[in-house]
Amino acid sequence: MSAPAPGALPELAARLAADPALAAAAAQVHAAAFDGTVPGRPWSAAEIAGFAAVPGALALLTPDALLLGRVAGPEAELVALATRPSARRRGLGRALTERFVALAAAAGAEEAFLEVAATNAPAQALYAALGWRPVGRRRGYYRDVKGNRIDAVAMRLRPIAVEARTSGDGAA
Ligand SMILES: CC(C)(COP(=O)(O)OP(=O)(O)OC[C@H]1O[C@@H](n2cnc3c(N)ncnc32)[C@H](O)[C@@H]1OP(=O)(O)O)[C@@H](O)C(=O)NCCC(=O)NCCS
Repeated sequence: MSAPAPGALPELAARLAADPALAAAAAQVHAAAFDGTVPGRPWSAAEIAGFAAVPGALALLTPDALLLGRVAGPEAELVALATRPSARRRGLGRALTERFVALAAAAGAEEAFLEVAATNAPAQALYAALGWRPVGRRRGYYRDVKGNRIDAVAMRLRPIAVEARTSGDGAA
């Protein structure tokens, strides 16, 4: 099975968990984004499939971007976001994050969390532009390619936007 057409943004967690080829396509997008220039390592197809199999998992995938998250009761967590370098600054990261928030709200989440490397200015700018705010810091949570420890900034979106609640019916 190939990745969905650009802009389709379907929820794919169940398919990622069941379809190794789709998980491999997702892993390729993740690896292209986590290419050593930002803290964090590529996830394997098996890791992505394993994450997607957990209850509450949400996934969004286009040929150029991937988002993995989960919802547990009133809390959502954005676990991974990746856009291929060749497709950046075209609104894909924003679109997937907004879609995730809408889906999480529809699933009952009242707030959302994520962790991002303190040195990752592009990602922090994206989240801040969408209303996420820093709420804490984890010392030395990540390592960069040279092995240096880098802090994680915890960010929260609360409340999840009202418009997200009304548009989050799960339709692509
Ligand atoms: C962070 C990342 C996902 C952004 O993806 P993207 O598809 O390029 O993001 P968008 O085009 O939707 O950008 C939306 C907004 O985020 C901000 N932003 C994104 N990249 C930025 C950059 N390099 N510098 C400053 N602001 C940036 C801007 O406000 C941008 O809006 P604008 O283009 O209208 O100015 C992408 O750079 C990436 O994959 N990086 C490597 C992996 C990573 O860091 N993942 C997140 C870890 S938590």
